[in-house]
Amino acid sequence: MWVARLMLLGSGELGREFAIAAKRLGCAVIACDRYAGAPAMQVADASEVFSMLDGAALRAAVEKHQPDVIVPEIEAIDTVTLARLEAEGWRVAPSANAAQLTMNRDGIRDFAAQELGLETSRYRFAESREEALAAAEAVGLPCVVKPVMSSSGKGQSVARTAAEVGSAWDHAVANMRGDRPRVIVEEFISFDTEITLLTVAAADGIHFCAPIGHVQEAGDYRESWQPAAVAPVTLRSAQEQAAKVVEALGGRGLFGVEFFIAGDRAIFSELSPRPHDTGMVTLVSQQPNEFELHLRAILGLPVAPITLAGPSASAVILADRDSERFAFEGVGEALATGAELRLFGKPRALPGRRMGVALARGAMVEEARTLALEAAGRVRIRYEGN
Ligand SMILES: Nc1ncnc2c1ncn2[C@@H]1O[C@H](COP(=O)(O)OP(=O)(O)O)[C@@H](O)[C@H]1O
Ligand SMILES: [Mg+2]
Repeated sequence: MWVARLMLLGSGELGREFAIAAKRLGCAVIACDRYAGAPAMQVADASEVFSMLDGAALRAAVEKHQPDVIVPEIEAIDTVTLARLEAEGWRVAPSANAAQLTMNRDGIRDFAAQELGLETSRYRFAESREEALAAAEAVGLPCVVKPVMSSSGKGQSVARTAAEVGSAWDHAVANMRGDRPRVIVEEFISFDTEITLLTVAAADGIHFCAPIGHVQEAGDYRESWQPAAVAPVTLRSAQEQAAKVVEALGGRGLFGVEFFIAGDRAIFSELSPRPHDTGMVTLVSQQPNEFELHLRAILGLPVAPITLAGPSASAVILADRDSERFAFEGVGEALATGAELRLFGKPRALPGRRMGVALARGAMVEEARTLALEAAGRVRIRYEGN
């Protein structure tokens, strides 16, 4: 009856677009997340509410729904259980190893820098304030301090002086996941631009999408565009590094490989073994989009040709307070610009939480960016009762 039964671990906006792609190809989707009404659950055949870090609940959901493929959508998953499930014959996309190595920053960074020899910023790990200071001395100031267990810029800060390293350590420890204080202290790279190189590991080998440029604020993405202007020699270096790390991680699927571009150097930063938030621009910029590519690669279907529709951009719509009673305004004005919107239907707003995204095309990237920003700016969140 189904092409495949897919179980999503994490059901946010990326999971929702993946679920839509899966539904379009006749798959069954079981969406899991720690809260009810999560974006992907709204379009799935079934859903389960539990913490992805709860191994027993994860195993119970897998045994109940018998998915053909388990598809992680977030980093914070009980990857030990995931690895055991894979060893027992359950399929994990792209692989339990990829999920495990990228769950924490230390795993993927050591793997990329030490084992594969990719170019990265100088870095050290630290498990105390004193070690953080020593690490900062080793990598040099300014430096970036991040909890090894965190995402979306949480607990991350830049230290310009030795005194700031202490407060950066405190900030990281206060905002990390888990109970084992450990940070990565990285040399600050003053890059010209940063890109995500969507890299697809498919049955017939590696395929690349055009590079996506993006702007981050407070460690979270605000705008992205495609194609990003990257010199051919630099792009080739990024592609070689991306292919190396993706092949080494193993499995089939789409990976978001992040690089800092400084002069003609492509410096590897981090990687997601799944669709990337900055890649939401591909919903209008290319065919197949990143979600369809992930799905096709997982199912062993053809991913090429990947065609670029033209210069495109995305801009995020953020909430600024905690509320479960709110409504969107200005949707009509936003759509009147010619841009598209994706509003995620999240049941709760939180300060800084991404609630939607505007997507636009243009004759040039600059035009697309202006249009996406304009449309995103026209959408307002009206909070009720406060
Ligand atoms: N070493 C660095 N030098 C300069 N900027 C950095 C560095 N590390 C991170 N950043 C900035 O912070 C953003 C988020 O960092 P990243 O490591 O990608 O964390 P996350 O997992 O939260 O996305 C990056 O996209 C970049 O803009
Ligand atoms: Mg990142």
